[in-house]
Amino acid sequence: MIALILYTALTGLAILPLLLYLRNPYFFQDLRYTISMIQIGVWMSKFKKQKPFYSILDRFLDQVARQPHKKFILFEESSYTYSEADKESSKVARALSSYAQLKEGDTVALFLGNEPQFVWIWLALTKLGCTASLLNSNIRSKSLLHCFSCCEAKVLVAGADQRGAVEEVLPTLSQQGARVFILSEDSGVEGIESLSDKIRQASDQPLSPQLRANVTMKSPALYIYTSGTTGLPKAAIINHERLWMASFVQSLAAVRSDDIIYVYLPLYHSSGFLMGLCGAIEKGITVVLRRKFSASHFWNDCRKYNVTVFQYIGEILRYLCNTPKRDNDRDHKVRLAVGNGIRADIWADFVQRFGDVSICECYGATEGNIGFVNYCGKVGALGKEHFLHKMGCPYALIRYDTEEEEPVKDSRGFCIEVPRGETGLLVTKIGERTPFTGYAKNNQQTEKKKLRDVFVKGDLYFNSGDLLKMDNEGFIFFQDRIGDTFRWKGENVATTEVADHLLMVDCVEEANVYGVKVPGHEGRIGMAALKLKENMDFDDKAAYQHVKNYLPSYARPRFIRVQEALVVTGTFKQMKAKLAEEGFNPAVIRDPLFYLEDNKGYVPMTQEIFSSIAEGRLRL
Ligand SMILES: *[C@@H]1O[C@H](CO)[C@@H](O)[C@H](O)[C@H]1NC(C)=O
Ligand SMILES: *[C@@H]1O[C@H](CO)[C@@H](O)[C@H](O)[C@H]1NC(C)=O
Repeated sequence: MIALILYTALTGLAILPLLLYLRNPYFFQDLRYTISMIQIGVWMSKFKKQKPFYSILDRFLDQVARQPHKKFILFEESSYTYSEADKESSKVARALSSYAQLKEGDTVALFLGNEPQFVWIWLALTKLGCTASLLNSNIRSKSLLHCFSCCEAKVLVAGADQRGAVEEVLPTLSQQGARVFILSEDSGVEGIESLSDKIRQASDQPLSPQLRANVTMKSPALYIYTSGTTGLPKAAIINHERLWMASFVQSLAAVRSDDIIYVYLPLYHSSGFLMGLCGAIEKGITVVLRRKFSASHFWNDCRKYNVTVFQYIGEILRYLCNTPKRDNDRDHKVRLAVGNGIRADIWADFVQRFGDVSICECYGATEGNIGFVNYCGKVGALGKEHFLHKMGCPYALIRYDTEEEEPVKDSRGFCIEVPRGETGLLVTKIGERTPFTGYAKNNQQTEKKKLRDVFVKGDLYFNSGDLLKMDNEGFIFFQDRIGDTFRWKGENVATTEVADHLLMVDCVEEANVYGVKVPGHEGRIGMAALKLKENMDFDDKAAYQHVKNYLPSYARPRFIRVQEALVVTGTFKQMKAKLAEEGFNPAVIRDPLFYLEDNKGYVPMTQEIFSSIAEGRLRL
């Protein structure tokens, strides 16, 4: 009898996973994700309890002790072990502390591109308890001065090739009493001090943790700049807690301790720095660092350095798919790509062409207080709803009016959560575990990201600015960024959706869709900037057939502008605002322009058509 009961119980246990799997095909992925999250939660509370708290620098130093001879950074023809990186950064810390008199709590602006020194200087500043402000190495003059001052930096450290940009703003910097160092053996200019010689002469002895004893989990670790669509960049405050959370994305994406990660995204942005570099330190893996992205060198680099994981963002995977096919396309060791912004069509193309690469799409903003990870590899999704995650970071998708550019309110004045399957604005509760640290010295922009009285009087949410949609299985899909949707004839048009259709037209290599204003009409009408495939002309018939077959009339691009290259931001996102402003006037725009004539197709845009529209003789 007992044997029978035992037997039944055991069989029950054995088939339990099968039953669970049948009920939920993502059961095992959900389980793995749950375990990872619990683990991270346990680690975080341990790190916080330690006195002083356990920082990413402490993790780095532990990795140095555990695996001193493991390669940490591979860059061009050089390589540096964990131990070498530690010594280099101690030298930098000693040089900066004696010559710039840095002390705990000071902010230092870094102004250089991707190179190992970037990493040493950041580690050095962390060893001294200082905050690093990561300036975009492409900014100049007014922007540079703005970014330097808005985090109250006292010292600027610039790369050797940034000399021109620094000299341009030197008078103002000197006036403000800023100290300026350049990574070179000699300076030759008054007001700029050389740093490389001082680093070379400094001792590589470890620095006392006492120097950073007052830093806490909530102290700013970094300032990272986010470019708005308008105005000057804003400095997002990244504290140590936020830095840790971003570093764990690699663990959630199942990066292993024997992986080699390729980091070519700029280190002054959060993807490259937090998810890439800090994530690698958290796992103790090797980083292959590159100055900047190059589609033509990409796979050769992966082969040369035995890369197994890389990061992507925005349009990067499309650029890779657009390179000419080669016989050795599948000859590489890459097994995982982690990033954000891949579109469903490219996902399929990429895997088909470059082989068995898992794609782990993630979602998060530099200044945001929430992230998602598509741990199931569901094509097109950026994440999946998970009860533990939702408990930790309460969020909602709320109904949004794209014309008024504000959330829709119910009769009591509260926001309305959208049902599954409907697009809504992602808002996340601001709380103890999900703080929003805001922007340095920019209260106005910080306040603009906050939503009050969302579901009850007195609550406070972070406005992500992203329109997302959740399906019945809980998968979350990116729909649009606020401002990237336009409204025409009373209908909302998602620019990404139209772009996806244009990309199916044979001659189109890249497409950027936006809405333009038309005199005498409400809303904005669709327009697309296209980059054509090499040696191909704009096939007006194929384009017309396609948009006519697949898009409702209000979503069809009325104007098409053919460009040599489409403009992207530093994070490889398409720029729309400027194009929308330029409109469709053939007298102003030099690029070939086409107009969609009703029941006819795309015809070359003429001054006559333009005048008819402008004067209201031609209604659209
Ligand atoms: C750390 O904080 C203590 C107490 O507030 C203070 O006395 C000390 O000077 C601080 N140390 C540094 C390096 O700022
Ligand atoms: C890459 O792997 C191969 C074979 O495992 C090895 O011979 C080579 O040295 C590795 N290259 C680098 C840069 O580590």
